[in-house]
Amino acid sequence: GLKKKEVHVLCLGLDNSGKTTIINKLKPSNAQSQDIVPTIGFSIEKFKSSSLSFTVFDMSGQGRYRNLWEHYYKEGQAIIFVIDSSDRLRMVVAKEELDTLLNHPDIKHRRIPILFFANKMDLRDAVTSVKVSQLLCLENIKDKPWHICASDAISDPGCEDMKR
Ligand code: GTP
Ligand code: MG
Repeated sequence: GLKKKEVHVLCLGLDNSGKTTIINKLKPSNAQSQDIVPTIGFSIEKFKSSSLSFTVFDMSGQGRYRNLWEHYYKEGQAIIFVIDSSDRLRMVVAKEELDTLLNHPDIKHRRIPILFFANKMDLRDAVTSVKVSQLLCLENIKDKPWHICASDAISDPGCEDMKR
């Protein structure tokens, strides 16, 4: 049969933001895992949609592993960047990591698409996706296609159209 087009996706963002939970929800239901633990280093997830074959690099967001991210930038064709919308204290750290990413030589001059998830919208302390996009200064990203979705990765993955 026809070979599906392969896409390499990088999933980035601080620890505890919900990256692994979101990736898990994007998988077909029979491939989803029930309990999710903090990622050590990174994990490679492969799954297919109707037309594409995805390889997702689900990176750990813990400080001690963030230096691993850049080794995968070259082969990444799309980025998912997840933010814990309820973690106001660390929003500035998320912005620093995003700025470092955007200024990296393997990312800076490429029109690589970025999908932001303003995650944990179900929590009382969560700020809106508009506020997240202001706090991260997303309007300054002019040379890459990007989009931000509000999500609650536990009860509803948000952005159902991701799966199509
Ligand atoms: P690292 O692998 O350490 O970088 O973390 P991660 O970004 O992969 O986060 P993970 O998916 O492991 O989720 C961290 C915690 O947040 C888990 O307890 C999840 O159940 C919880 N969580 C994820 N998404 C949501 C959400 O939308 N709402 C709420 N309330 N909790 C969430
Ligand atoms: Mg994880």
